[in-house]
Amino acid sequence: MLSQPMLRLASAVSCRRTKPLLCIALLAYVASVWDNLVNMRPIQENGELRIESRLDKIIEPLREKIRDLEKSFTQKYSPVKFLSEKDCKRILVTGGMGFVGSYLMDKLMMDGHKVTMVDNFFMGRKRNMEHWVSHENFELINHDMLEQLSIEVDQIYHLASPASPPSYMYNPFKTLKTNTVGTLNMLGLAKRVGARLFLASTSEVCRDPEVHPQTEDYWGRVNPIGPCPRFAEMCYACMKQEGVAVRVARIFNTFGPRMHMNDGWVVSNFILQALQGEPLTVYRSGSQTRAFRYISDLVNRLVALTNSNVSSPVKLGNPEEHTILEFAQLIKNPVGSGSKIQFLSEKAKLMPGWEPMVLREEGLNKAIFYFRKELEYHANNQYIPKPKPARMKTERASHN
Ligand SMILES: NC(=O)c1ccc[n+]([C@@H]2O[C@H](COP(=O)([O-])OP(=O)(O)OC[C@H]3O[C@@H](n4cnc5c(N)ncnc54)[C@H](O)[C@@H]3O)[C@@H](O)[C@H]2O)c1
Repeated sequence: MLSQPMLRLASAVSCRRTKPLLCIALLAYVASVWDNLVNMRPIQENGELRIESRLDKIIEPLREKIRDLEKSFTQKYSPVKFLSEKDCKRILVTGGMGFVGSYLMDKLMMDGHKVTMVDNFFMGRKRNMEHWVSHENFELINHDMLEQLSIEVDQIYHLASPASPPSYMYNPFKTLKTNTVGTLNMLGLAKRVGARLFLASTSEVCRDPEVHPQTEDYWGRVNPIGPCPRFAEMCYACMKQEGVAVRVARIFNTFGPRMHMNDGWVVSNFILQALQGEPLTVYRSGSQTRAFRYISDLVNRLVALTNSNVSSPVKLGNPEEHTILEFAQLIKNPVGSGSKIQFLSEKAKLMPGWEPMVLREEGLNKAIFYFRKELEYHANNQYIPKPKPARMKTERASHN
């Protein structure tokens, strides 16, 4: 519906009376619209102000949280020594988010070095290094050891390896590749940039040792097809052939915070069992002895070894040995646990749930039957086993 002035305007236009009348009417209309707009602005501004203040109320606590987080990050750093440019080393730690690597990184950072940490996050936990995030001496690279790495460093601590039984058995082929290709990549890097390489080897090379505790001149009893082949040999070959400075430690059982809950080592197993009121499982009689070392002691020795002139492999254990049974008691008491100690046979440990299905006599009868049938194929039912002669290369004829 048209308003009265608009009707008048319309009749004026239709009657084509005068142009000025039309102009005046239009001007009046525009003026009234403008007036309305000007009057509405304060209402709109008021609304916007109200929305803004409500948003402020929501955002302010978030801003407060961010300020707190920023403060906690800067306050959390442990004190770091100042080193002159000459003494400050650029150090690469592979597997730095793992148990040993993260403590090593703490030591190197606090000693004032510039540390680059490499990990593929397979077993490593971000929590192990979050206290160094944003520190000017710290750098983290998400990297798999199977790939080459280009970086300028003075020292390399090579610890990246799926170390615990559940992790190295999860993907055994990848474990072997990480240990071979990963170590080769680090040897290549050390050679290119002239860095010293430390390799974290394992006491597993002394599998079921005959000597307890193992001294440094005890060479171990190696299981050549076990899951822990000797990659240290590769490093020594590289040292002899290419002159790369190599340091190797055979690490024995180490414990401390940041161990993995499911690493399968005896200390973490006992602690978890005691805390949960479960029986502490001891294999055999528990009289077998082990030496356990606390993580900070190990890390101090690793750094001292790397900076020393000792290039032969060094066993890092603990001269103080305990029986497994003593260790179970040692853990049970401080936890205050009512857990019992349960003795399991070694067989159960190696093959849980395995029971022989065939009786010895029954199995032997089957084998005897088989051999009897085989003999029937031979003359007079007789066969004397003879080993095949070894294939020997005949000597080449001399040209002289
Ligand atoms: N903890 C011990 O008692 C002990 C005993 C003997 C030897 N060691 C040796 O010390 C080293 C560290 O052991 P840990 O107990 O800290 O083990 P861990 O499992 O806690 O740490 C190993 C780290 O290596 C990383 N990693 C694995 N594969 C990788 C890959 N392909 N690329 C990049 N990163 C990879 C994992 O994510 C993890 O952070 C290992 O070489 C282990 O064999 C440890």
